[in-house]
Parts: sequence; structure tokens; C-alpha cells
Amino acid sequence: MMSNEQLRDEVMTLFLAGHETTANTLSWTFYLLTQHPEAESKLMRELEQVLNGQAPSFRHFPQLVYTQSIVKEAMRLYPPVWLISREPLEDVQLEQYVLPAGCEIALSQWVMHRHPDYFPEPRSFIPDRWTPEFEEALPAYVYFPFGAGPRMCIGNNFAMLEATLLLAGVLQQYRIVYDSAKPVAPEPSITLRPKPGVPVRVVRRRE
Ligand code: HEM
Repeated sequence: MMSNEQLRDEVMTLFLAGHETTANTLSWTFYLLTQHPEAESKLMRELEQVLNGQAPSFRHFPQLVYTQSIVKEAMRLYPPVWLISREPLEDVQLEQYVLPAGCEIALSQWVMHRHPDYFPEPRSFIPDRWTPEFEEALPAYVYFPFGAGPRMCIGNNFAMLEATLLLAGVLQQYRIVYDSAKPVAPEPSITLRPKPGVPVRVVRRRE
């Protein structure tokens, strides 16, 4: 049986790992959509076609292809976890470098996700880049918003589902309008937060 302390730790992990990351993903996604009306229009067309006025649910998920691409592209540009680390168990020779056992190796999603060798026009928001062919051709560990290997995020699939359906559900009913003259800046804390938040107006689409 778990001790109270273990239970507290588990709940903290789920709150921090599960809530903060998905919340940031959605904040960045809404922000990016306010800056890219053409992507928002395309998303709205997909929502009309796939949902046909119904509330989004689990069964719509596979068909919400463009909506998923938007979430992937938002996590590419603004990875909610922008840095993870690993410690080698033994010395590792990596080309001309030796990584001694026990040293800390920082791996940055921010750096890799904006690498021009892998992502043409790396700073542009292009959800259409996420075709099946593009994903297939992407080398392993280049795009890793959920980490990789045995300690990869356990909430990976759930988070994609949650973020996609929430995005669809909110935008189906509301228009999000950016309400500030200043752009949002990334604040690299443990997660990558939008600073100073994303000031928006929320407008109901129809009564
Ligand atoms: C967009 C949302 C999310 C992102 C970007 C994200 C990202 C990550 C990353 C980068 C890691 C570290 C992986 C590694 O070191 O290779 C991680 C670990 C973890 N995540 Fe997530 N996560 C998200 C959502 C969630 C959700 C919804 C849950 C649970 C409901 C969750 C639970 C966990 C747990 C428990 C770990 C630790 C796994 C381990 O150490 O074995 N995450 N996550």
C-alpha cells in the first residue's frame, strides 16, 4: 500500500506533469491561432465537416487531422517542456566528445524543434507540414515534446486527445481574439509559459 507521502507525491506528479503542460499547450495554441487567421479558418472548416454541430468526443479524434496538426505545430514552436536531462550510466563516446558517467546531459526540445535541417521555415507556424510522409521521414528524437525512451511521458496519448478535443470544443463555440498590442514572450521556467499570459477576448459564435 502507498504511504500518505507517496500518494501526495503521485498526485503532485499528475497535477504538475498533467495539468500545467496541457494548459500551456492550449494557451500557446490559442495564441498562435489568433496570429494566423488562415489556420483558424481551415480549422473551423474541419470542425464543421467532422463534428457537424455535435460536441467533440473520443470517436471524432481520428478525423480531426488538421486540429491535431495544429496542436503538434504549437508544441513544436512552444514545447511545454523545453528541456529534459539524462545521466549516462557509463562513459559514452559521442564523436569527439566523451560524456562521463553521471554527468548531466541537457536535451532541449526548443533547440531541436526549431532546427532548420529538419523543419523548413523553422520559426513559422505551418500546421500543414505535419503530413504522414513528413512524420515518417522525421528522424527519431528530433521532435520530442513528450520526451523519449523508457521514461517518456505516460500521458502522451491522453494529452493529445485532451488538447485536441478541448481546442475543438472551445473554438466550435467561441472566437478567441487577442487583446493586447504586445506579443507574448516565452518564459522558460520548468514549463514554457506564455508571459504575461495570453490576454484575449472570448466571443460567442452564435446564440
Ligand atoms: C501536452 C501535455 C504534456 C507534455 C508536453 C508532457 C511532457 C512530458 C515530458 C517531456 C516528460 C519527461 C519525459 C522524458 O524524460 O523522456 C513527461 C513525463 C511524465 N508525464 Fe507528461 N506531458 C504532458 C501531459 C501529461 C499528462 C496529461 C500526464 C498524466 C495524466 C502526464 C504524466 C507524466 C508522468 C507521470 C511523467 C513521468 C514519467 C516517468 O518518469 O516515467 N503528462 N511528460
